[in-house]
Amino acid sequence: MEYNNNKEIEKILEEIDISEEAPIEEPMRQYYFIKKGRAYVAELSEKLDRPLYVCVNTFGCQMNAKDSEKLLGILEQMGYKEETDENKADFVIYNTCTVRENANLRVYGRLGQLNRIKKKNPHMMIGLCGCMMQEPEVVEKLKKSYRFVDLIFGTHNIYKFAELIVTCFESERMVIDIWKDTDKIVEDLPTDRKYSFKSGVNIMFGCNNFCSYCIVPYVRGRERSRNPKDIIREIEKLVADGVVEVMLLGQNVNSYGKNLDEPMTFAQLLQEIEKIEGLERIRFMTSHPKDLSDELIEVMAHSKKICKHLHLPVQSGSTDILKKMNRRYTKEQYLLLVEKIKKAIPDISLTTDIIVGFPGETEEDFQETLDVVRKVRYDSAFTFQYSKRTGTPAAVLEDQISPEVMKDRFDRLLKEVQTISAEVCSVHKGTIQRVLVETKNDHDEHLVTGRMSNNLLVHFPGDASLIGKLVDVELKECHGFYYMGEIVS
Ligand code: SAH
Ligand code: SF4
Ligand code: F3S
Repeated sequence: MEYNNNKEIEKILEEIDISEEAPIEEPMRQYYFIKKGRAYVAELSEKLDRPLYVCVNTFGCQMNAKDSEKLLGILEQMGYKEETDENKADFVIYNTCTVRENANLRVYGRLGQLNRIKKKNPHMMIGLCGCMMQEPEVVEKLKKSYRFVDLIFGTHNIYKFAELIVTCFESERMVIDIWKDTDKIVEDLPTDRKYSFKSGVNIMFGCNNFCSYCIVPYVRGRERSRNPKDIIREIEKLVADGVVEVMLLGQNVNSYGKNLDEPMTFAQLLQEIEKIEGLERIRFMTSHPKDLSDELIEVMAHSKKICKHLHLPVQSGSTDILKKMNRRYTKEQYLLLVEKIKKAIPDISLTTDIIVGFPGETEEDFQETLDVVRKVRYDSAFTFQYSKRTGTPAAVLEDQISPEVMKDRFDRLLKEVQTISAEVCSVHKGTIQRVLVETKNDHDEHLVTGRMSNNLLVHFPGDASLIGKLVDVELKECHGFYYMGEIVS
């Protein structure tokens, strides 16, 4: 569970005496450091005669987005105010991703700019965390060439953030704390949710799949499931706070519960969550095709709350390449699975991730991928060019594909995916769909934007009072990947 209620947090903090030694047990130890950090923040803020601002920049996936909410929750409890422009912040944090090399390069590029800002603003603190920091070469490089960074920590000890900030205030040197792995899950820390009406909920951490191209298992550690009681308690509390939609998060949610003291399947967990009164919608990601059970399909087909959307990364359509990727399914098994899902849940929306240019991929292999795309007809697909990650088995394979061939396949794939998804998405025209209103429209203030169960967006006339509400909307026009509509209820 996480606290986002100030009253509860204040009550905990009141009982803590920072003139005593820090407690050993978590999460109390971190509350002690939050209180201690408050004093440092207040002191500096008085000196500058203004509040202190923090900017948390998030790269990468939903796990990182969720982690950033936790970081911000702690920072705000210490007295920082949120600022989205890093040029104006007293504390800048990059929560990094390293899944593909370009994510990495972007961080180095921006660090150079931060250095210039810090020269003009010497009290500024710079913190780096997230997946990239779990790579020893990255930390070496930072230690050598980026001495102006104040704090570096990894993915396994983010619950210690309050303690690390206090260490930073008390130290002149770069503070580095990286753990190789952990089996620890610390509950009950503050968080600052980005949306009031929907929230991500971690159900597991890490990954044991070791797909041969992927760095995630090395930087996020071994698979650990959260206790179902803690998950349910957290969601009940979120619902009491006004949340109507949750997104259950894990690298491979279909293997949830295998390592619990009392094992439980993902489908069983979903059924427990479904019972929570006041919760309207359940989403989850990501599903690995090899572990997607009949039980899950059954539960989804009969559920009133689980959204009709399944993100089912295929990665490649070639059985040969899938084998080299260590995905542990064949093209035929994947297609059979899709058939089974579509039969049980006819209005399901299917999305996927695809990598082109994996080492050794031939034109024939690539044609198999196109074939899968044409057969499944995805609602949308994230397409990636293979990126070599040091330390993964695929990085040392021969026959790495040239950038030109990779780019050419990528363009052809993207075209196919987009054509099909425009066709697939347009079939809902004229229907009435229940949507959760998420934001005011960026381009037109008379419009709001809502999300359908199948994850498609629709823009329609309305005002901010609708945000967080579920309404029925008639889909009038389809514009490829989104709709224009009109409210009917
Ligand atoms: N756990 C999720 C994916 C996490 S990473 C799953 O298994 O589906 C998100 C996506 O990034 C992956 O699905 C994959 O398509 C892509 N990806 C991962 N490693 C990559 C690499 N080395 N090069 C290119 N794309 C990669
Ligand atoms: Fe990476 Fe595969 Fe784990 Fe997904 S399942 S995070 S692609 S190793
Ligand atoms: Fe990136 Fe880490 Fe997510 S490497 S994709 S942020 S788990």
